[in-house]
Amino acid sequence: MLARAMLCLSSSTHASAAAARRMPACRGVSASSFDGTFSYRPTAARARRGLAHASASASARSADDSPLSPPPRHVSLIQGASRGIGLEMVRQLLEVPDANLPGRPAAAGGHVVATCRDPANASGLTDLLSKHPGRLTVVRLDVESTATIVDAAETVKRKLGRVDLLCQTAAVLHVDAPEFKMRPETSIARLDENAALKAYRVNALGPTLVTKHFAGLLTEGTRLSRVCASEGDATTNETNDDGEKPAPAAVVANLSARVSSVGDNALGGWHSYRASKTALNQLTKNCAIEFSRKKHPITFLLLHPGTVDTDLSEPFKKNVPAEKLFTAERAARQLLRIVGAKTQQDTGKFFAWDGTEVPW
Ligand SMILES: NC(=O)c1ccc[n+]([C@@H]2O[C@H](COP(=O)([O-])OP(=O)(O)OC[C@H]3O[C@@H](n4cnc5c(N)ncnc54)[C@H](OP(=O)(O)O)[C@@H]3O)[C@@H](O)[C@H]2O)c1
Repeated sequence: MLARAMLCLSSSTHASAAAARRMPACRGVSASSFDGTFSYRPTAARARRGLAHASASASARSADDSPLSPPPRHVSLIQGASRGIGLEMVRQLLEVPDANLPGRPAAAGGHVVATCRDPANASGLTDLLSKHPGRLTVVRLDVESTATIVDAAETVKRKLGRVDLLCQTAAVLHVDAPEFKMRPETSIARLDENAALKAYRVNALGPTLVTKHFAGLLTEGTRLSRVCASEGDATTNETNDDGEKPAPAAVVANLSARVSSVGDNALGGWHSYRASKTALNQLTKNCAIEFSRKKHPITFLLLHPGTVDTDLSEPFKKNVPAEKLFTAERAARQLLRIVGAKTQQDTGKFFAWDGTEVPW
């Protein structure tokens, strides 16, 4: 049944204007301003898909898929949440009382969206969903498929109406599938065109397309937080004693890696992964500049988690000293703390797990 609920949320459906109007998340938020914030326009292809699925969509729009009531005061979205650091971030956002986000108290008790490629087989998320059915929404999203990104954004828009924190963890370093192999190159002779393009698509382009399609929801997160702060909502911790400090903007935290740094590159190798993460850094910096100029800005951060004991590091961890190999629990905790402490002043910066800045 849980798997069915998760799959429901991945089905392609139209955003309903009526549903959107029912979703103001704070006193004083008008339906028209809510609708006006989104830049999303249906494409012809989406419209066709929508028509094809119109009847199925109507029946699939179950209670799980309708606007949450009352509307959430904070929405965290973890992209790449089936395992590793992403899954642990979801768990901590649901189960750690202060959510490890000191500057964002509204995150504690807030709603969490976990996206992954295959919800039906994401057992860690299924377990969390059974423990926190009212606070967790699992949505299908494959960063290599724009259609799933668009559908995921529609689902979140319809159900939750905002995103305050978007943490993007999905990445590939090595793949050992029957139909496709990828391994980090130890020399240029091992560079493989398909593997390099895969790394770019998953590690750099994918998260940037997610940013593109979720920008309206993130903008709405910033705007709604500021409406709440101007009304003196203490749970947002967003004004100082004089009421002058602006509410924190919505934040996009993209997981990069220290090996992306050109200035810090002393070892060479890993061409595809390194270069894809370097590209992610540049794209994230570009977004930071673009969205800092907006009326409702979005903060962009790049994060290096350290070496973490996950599937990604599995083939390479034997030479890592035990004290330098973090558990996913520790890595997620450290990264969420950084995210919670940063403000719009920090937009476009690249932080390591210990809070130090990583050189470009
Ligand atoms: N672990 C480390 O030591 C380390 C060091 C430096 C940086 N990082 C960075 O930290 C982040 C998290 O790494 P991790 O160690 O948690 O990795 P991980 O355990 O290997 O998890 C990778 C995640 O990415 C997802 N993913 C892969 N391709 C995808 C796609 N096309 N669409 C959507 N999701 C996709 C996987 O989903 P599936 O289950 O569907 O495959 C999985 O949830 C990555 O960005 C990584 O580069 C990690």
